[in-house]
Amino acid sequence: MNIIKLGGSVITDKRKENFFKKEVVENLVKAIKKANKETIIIHGAGSFGHIIADKYKLNEGKKSKDQLLGFSLTHGMVQKLNSLVLDSLNNNRIAAVSIPPHSNLILDNHNPYKFDFTIFKNYLEIGFTPVTFGDVVLDKKLGFSICSGDLLMVLLAENLKPEKTIFVIDEDGLFTSNPKIDKNAELIESATIEKLNGLLAAPDSHADVTGGMKGKIETIKKISKLGIDTILLNGNKPDRIFKVLKGEKVKSTIITGGHK
Ligand code: IPE
Repeated sequence: MNIIKLGGSVITDKRKENFFKKEVVENLVKAIKKANKETIIIHGAGSFGHIIADKYKLNEGKKSKDQLLGFSLTHGMVQKLNSLVLDSLNNNRIAAVSIPPHSNLILDNHNPYKFDFTIFKNYLEIGFTPVTFGDVVLDKKLGFSICSGDLLMVLLAENLKPEKTIFVIDEDGLFTSNPKIDKNAELIESATIEKLNGLLAAPDSHADVTGGMKGKIETIKKISKLGIDTILLNGNKPDRIFKVLKGEKVKSTIITGGHK
């Protein structure tokens, strides 16, 4: 079984509110279908979630009553995005089923407190493709906060031990610096935890409400410690996800699990 996270910046245009990149998603879904592997799909929120979550400061927890509407609006938008992703999966004959995090996960000061992963396991066992997504959730300490797709990746990897975890992003993989602003940025084709720690020392120009590139590196470190491989690849080149699912090597970053 593989777990794939479709990043919000791949499936939406992060600068335009609620802009779904339909064609990009269709191409990725076709590649996933063609590879024909058991998968769980997680997707990010992109411009369906981050803009409004920022506006209402939802990740800081409940501070005023006005935020409640912000929570609902954000949930409504990520649910809409989820419907668009599900449509694409179902139209391409993938039997997908949506599992919204807010109903099976509770955080405690941003950390996992309660998570029911058995529902994922049960759906997988009958042959479904479970689909979950970055969402607003209850938080024991803060009232509510945000659960990113990256956190879901760690939780699902911990509990279901996939063969590999794949992050579909809008760059070829991890770079030595931000390739969007630094033309000397180099693609890191393979990495260990030590190499990732080195990257953490550099300033982060990718930051967003759920952590940016540094957050992503922390996520990968957690998965790697479980002994599971992580691959980051470009979602705008759908043949790459197809080949990786088939076990072939492509332009990407591979972090081999198990390194200290
Ligand atoms: C964020 O999820 C969820 C909300 C803002 C509600 P992610 O952090 O997984 O989304 P992307 O991939 O960065 O867009």
